[in-house]
Amino acid sequence: MPRKIDGDFVTFTQFIQEEQNRHPEATGDFSWLMSGVALATRMIGSYIRRAGLIDVWGDQGTTNVQGETVKKLDIMANDALKRTLGYRGNVGIIASEEDDEPRVISEVEGEDSYIVMFDPLDGSSNIDVNVSVGTIFTVFKNPPEIEGAAKSVLQPGSKQIAAGYVLYGSSTVLVYTCGQGTHMFTLDPQYGTYLLTRENITIPQHTPSYSVNEAYSHGFPEGYRRYLDWVKLEKPRYSSRYVGSLVADFHRILIKGGVYFYPETNANPEGKLRLMYESNPLAFLAEQAGGAASTGTQRILDVMPGDVHHRTPLVIGGKRNVDEVLDMLQAG
Ligand code: AHG
Ligand code: MN
Ligand code: MN
Ligand code: MN
Repeated sequence: MPRKIDGDFVTFTQFIQEEQNRHPEATGDFSWLMSGVALATRMIGSYIRRAGLIDVWGDQGTTNVQGETVKKLDIMANDALKRTLGYRGNVGIIASEEDDEPRVISEVEGEDSYIVMFDPLDGSSNIDVNVSVGTIFTVFKNPPEIEGAAKSVLQPGSKQIAAGYVLYGSSTVLVYTCGQGTHMFTLDPQYGTYLLTRENITIPQHTPSYSVNEAYSHGFPEGYRRYLDWVKLEKPRYSSRYVGSLVADFHRILIKGGVYFYPETNANPEGKLRLMYESNPLAFLAEQAGGAASTGTQRILDVMPGDVHHRTPLVIGGKRNVDEVLDMLQAG
């Protein structure tokens, strides 16, 4: 059931506005920006719900800067976010998994503005088969002293002002943090608005569950292979779950616990997941929920990006689950 505060249901916009009053860094009309993100996700959600009825399935016929085949829905989702954020005057720069370069979209002289980065459609391989996909976003301050979009976006995840994702699953949920806990909202399809359904989520510290694309394990660093042998040979209660949409795999862990990892592989020696659009926002949400996120050797939120499409290995989940993996990596 949606949470009531003072007898009223709380919408996402109300919640942001109240948090903004308490958040010293969130100057400018932050709730205006977030309402743009929420609007875009409602648009994307409606495309997904009508997939099959409108022309959404299949490939666009191009390859993106990540070297991936672009799906039609990747482009539609990217356009929805760019269009809605383009009208928000306080958004200075946007960067997307689907675009080659970050872009300045408004020059706000002498005023605070924000950088918004996003993975418009996470889980592309699941679009055509009716499996959950998501949208991930993160917000940084646009540093006025730095010239040029390419340099302004190069900030560690510890500087995120807010981050979140929307999971288009059996229901549509928005999970959000601005550094004061991790909270969940559920889209009420009748009202067309996100209502607060879980406040201050905490990830269970340990759950006997792991999530990884094990088909690549022969190419993982040895510690990960040792971990996989250990859970299978010595921990008979462990189970494995892997959707292949990071947002869906992470959401399960946020609610039920466990660990997700996507290490270095033969095909992706730096790891596959993108720091700015995937690892950072989920690491921020995980830490705010009492969990942890690491590259295997370093806290994700401390990684200094080399460029906007920087990739990292990712180990994320309940604190003790993550520690079990890291202990295996450190065992030499
Ligand atoms: P995207 O669809 O945004 O490119 O992200 C794909 C990512 C992520 O969603 C998922 O967890 C991972 O790629 C799956 O990769 P594998 O198919 O290699 O397991
Ligand atoms: Mn992609
Ligand atoms: Mn993704
Ligand atoms: Mn994507």
